Amino acid sequence: MDNWEEFLGPYRQAVEELKVKLKGLRRQFETEGTRSAIEFVTGRVKPIKSILDKAEQKNIALSNLEQEMQDIAGLRIVCQFVEDIYNVVKLLKMRNDFEVIEERDYIKEKKKSGYRSYHLLIEYPVQTIHGEKRILAEIQIRTLAMNFWATIEHSLNYKYNGEFPEDIQKRLLRAAEAAFLLDNEMSLISEEIREAQAFFTSKRES
Ligand code: GTP
Ligand code: MG
Repeated sequence: MDNWEEFLGPYRQAVEELKVKLKGLRRQFETEGTRSAIEFVTGRVKPIKSILDKAEQKNIALSNLEQEMQDIAGLRIVCQFVEDIYNVVKLLKMRNDFEVIEERDYIKEKKKSGYRSYHLLIEYPVQTIHGEKRILAEIQIRTLAMNFWATIEHSLNYKYNGEFPEDIQKRLLRAAEAAFLLDNEMSLISEEIREAQAFFTSKRES
């Protein structure tokens, strides 16, 4: 790879554009006075060092990065409740500014590590001075609890280079279970709040 900045240019453009667009969703909820399904949105282009490490690890030739490394452009949407995730996924699939080409529901089926999130792989058209370039981007959609767990696990992974001591491994799995229970409790509470609101609204109107 002789010119990283030229290669990464369209990815940087895509991440900037997608951040604006996804944050726009959040603003629309706010303007309409509905509780926002989206808590916050972040985005990043994978650092060159991480691209190289992952390419080596996964045996990806640098000439195949565009097709085989699917998270060079990464977006993350963090929601309050699990139900919000599925609503956001529905909204994203309705859009016509990108195409969803793969979905992975690691919420219904969590990973061995305990990781939970919903992943969408999209193809996003970037307008360049050489015409349109379609790049792959990964959108991760998760709750605050899932994000808390994944953030801690990710930094520990970094610290231990993926080889956790057994006691930490066990704790992480328990923490993942706790995050799952927290999401469930929060969903039940939000449901009760909604029901109570609907009940009082219908009483007022009758
Ligand atoms: P990667 O090589 O990590 O891209 O895995 P993959 O190609 O099998 O894709 P997958 O959809 O499983 O994971 C993609 C991304 O999800 C990763 O780059 C992480 O950001 C996140 N992820 C997946 N598994 C874990 C996990 O066990 N812990 C954490 N913290 N993040 C994870
Ligand atoms: Mg991946």
